[in-house]
Amino acid sequence: MKPDSPFLDLETAPRVAVSIDGAPLELPEGANLAAALLAAGVTVFRHTPVSGAPRGPFCMMGACFDCLVDIDGFTRQACMIEVSQGLRIIRPRDLGADDVDA
Ligand code: FES
Repeated sequence: MKPDSPFLDLETAPRVAVSIDGAPLELPEGANLAAALLAAGVTVFRHTPVSGAPRGPFCMMGACFDCLVDIDGFTRQACMIEVSQGLRIIRPRDLGADDVDA
């Protein structure tokens, strides 16, 4: 049975293997991905397209979009995803103007 808060089992849940920017990492299965990454010491999730400023989770409820990461080729809000085996997480880097769809 899961605890009331999705953040309470970060330390005790069984670990699964994921990768972030190609590096292996083990995170608690079923945990909130943003919380699990923060607990693992990952604080920068993306860089803004215009200034390249670092961003990390802020609202933890799907409103701010500061937790965007690419997961298996799709841009997703990490705070709205559960950790599962084999996630391939890529932190977006700043895009040049030529890389942004108009
Ligand atoms: S932390 Fe705000 S949308 Fe994910």
